[in-house]
Amino acid sequence: MKIDIHAHVLPGIDDGAKDWDDCLEMLRRSAKCGVKAVIATPHYVSWKEGSSSKEIEQLCSQAKKKLLEKNGITMDIYCGNEIYYTTDAIRDLKEGKTLTLAGSRYVLVEFGWQSSYQIVCRAITEFREVGYIPIVAHVERYKCLRQLERLQVIKDMGALIQMNVEAFQGGVLDSGSRWAKNCLKEEMVDFLASDMHGLSRRTPIREEELQWVLKKLRPEYQKDLLYNNASRIINSIGV
Ligand SMILES: [Fe+2]
Repeated sequence: MKIDIHAHVLPGIDDGAKDWDDCLEMLRRSAKCGVKAVIATPHYVSWKEGSSSKEIEQLCSQAKKKLLEKNGITMDIYCGNEIYYTTDAIRDLKEGKTLTLAGSRYVLVEFGWQSSYQIVCRAITEFREVGYIPIVAHVERYKCLRQLERLQVIKDMGALIQMNVEAFQGGVLDSGSRWAKNCLKEEMVDFLASDMHGLSRRTPIREEELQWVLKKLRPEYQKDLLYNNASRIINSIGV
């Protein structure tokens, strides 16, 4: 059983699903892989015109309904955003312009690719000061976080870590994939998610992509990564 906390599945509102067909097929494939719930996380950038929280909520309930009607699949689709960090993002959260994950205190936060470690630390402090718990989206992307000691520091500051399943699909010669696997072996990661954007690139999670996880990681930790921690967010229990 899995819960996917990072998914660009809502149709036509960001660079994810293009239309309802795309959206429903992404959800159908997710369900086939054992995903029981998805948190939809369209991009939120404070200076860009985006979808309102209300629109996201409506699309989530429509997606759930259509998936049942057209595909006979029951899946919970929760609302969220992937929030691009700026100092304005926190103001927008307080004003309800952008969404936490499934109505919880947890927020999925992305940084610019070149962000410094200092900026990441400052952001975590700012989110924590006003009562939110930041989850660093696709941690594998940031050069400044490619040190286990730094990951430990930000976790100690109260952040959680999300990694894309795609991150560890490379072979032994792929340094990014080696790093991602090392983070997992060290149990630094709190959530594995798809960050799915479509059907051909950044796709829904496939069973075969999880073989390494099933072989190499502790069974209890596997469950935390793929289900338990996400379930605690949805049920508002601390991770
Ligand atoms: Fe994303």
